[in-house]
Amino acid sequence: MAYTVRLEPVGIEMEVDEGESVLKAAFRQGIMLMHGCKEGQCASCKSILLDGDIDLLQHSTFALPDYEQEQNYILLCRTIPYSDVSIELLNYDEEILKFAIPVKEYAATVTGIETLTHDMRLLRVHLTDPQGLRFFAGQYVDLSLPEFGVSRSYSMANTPSSSQDLEFIIKVYPGGAFSQALNERIKPGDPIKVTGPYGICCRRDNDSLVILAGGGSGMAPLLSIFYDLLENHIDRPVRFFYGARTPDDLFYVDRILEAGKTLRDFQFVPALSHLPDGQLWDGDRGFIHEVVNRHLERTQDAAADAYVCGPPPLIDAIVPILRMKGLDADRIYFDKFYQASPLLSPINQRSDQ
Ligand SMILES: Cc1cc2nc3c(=O)[nH]c(=O)nc-3n(C[C@H](O)[C@H](O)[C@H](O)COP(=O)(O)OP(=O)(O)OC[C@H]3O[C@@H](n4cnc5c(N)ncnc54)[C@H](O)[C@@H]3O)c2cc1C
Ligand code: FES
Repeated sequence: MAYTVRLEPVGIEMEVDEGESVLKAAFRQGIMLMHGCKEGQCASCKSILLDGDIDLLQHSTFALPDYEQEQNYILLCRTIPYSDVSIELLNYDEEILKFAIPVKEYAATVTGIETLTHDMRLLRVHLTDPQGLRFFAGQYVDLSLPEFGVSRSYSMANTPSSSQDLEFIIKVYPGGAFSQALNERIKPGDPIKVTGPYGICCRRDNDSLVILAGGGSGMAPLLSIFYDLLENHIDRPVRFFYGARTPDDLFYVDRILEAGKTLRDFQFVPALSHLPDGQLWDGDRGFIHEVVNRHLERTQDAAADAYVCGPPPLIDAIVPILRMKGLDADRIYFDKFYQASPLLSPINQRSDQ
């Protein structure tokens, strides 16, 4: 049994299988609707039900308060239609709405785990079936460890030119279900499932200034976008802001500086927010949003694209600064690295609903 979902004001119609969420059906059919957590926490997919009958699965009331639900607001990632429905999208990005890559599952094998810093690991994965994942620089996938019953979202750190061998930069959290398994138990040769690609924080084509800002594991999608520009010989002005706490948290600094030399107009600003007393550092200091504020000139006619990746507080701090600098809200692309919700059942945490 399948139902028809009509999306307004874009006039797109798609099929949704019985028991399938609207967001998952859209992913399957290569329609990229706005999304973030994919599990009812972030409100990125909030829309309005115009017509039809639905079930709304468990979600955070911060993302969708009861009073909004009474006014027919819905979260597409938690909406299960049980009739044909018509939905008004509140946010959509026409540039990629219809050009998305259908989400699929890929069997894969772990090929390597490297230490980048005390709490940052580089995971290498080789896809075996199907043998290549098409994605746009900046996108992410869900990685599932069948042996440990855990699945989490991770952004590709490599460029789309390497579609069979993927790299991920993963922060190890104390007690982290995925990251501790990666740190202590997983080894080359182990199976891993890859589902994707997801995400709308992906590289756009034009001639304007490119602003990359993030820190820690947020470096993964930024590196993918940065190296994708270089590989494609796109010589746009680039401002790359990289925030870390201490010198021990920095990685790839020399590599980025060296690669940026091929660009005519490149500024790379690594900055530390918690420099230990007595430690030498001749770079910038402060939180990354303060550093962006200090260094970035006001842009003319909003002529810049910004890509911002990392934990939600980092994004929430940087976006208003970019707006103050004259950037158009529609050209600030970000992925908030939400934690998987402890409120939802393990099945739902697999974010494959
Ligand atoms: C779109 C998207 C892209 C992402 N890309 C990346 C990426 O490229 N690299 C990466 O490392 N992560 C990324 N994440 C985050 C990742 O999906 C996991 O949430 C993270 O790795 C923690 O998973 P875990 O199983 O190790 O910890 P969990 O078992 O989920 O959490 C265990 C404990 O770890 C701590 N913790 C977990 N996450 C955080 C956090 N964000 N901030 C502070 N404390 C935390 C908390 O104390 C938590 O209780 C992304 C998330 C999203 C939504
Ligand atoms: S609430 Fe639907 S994607 Fe986050």
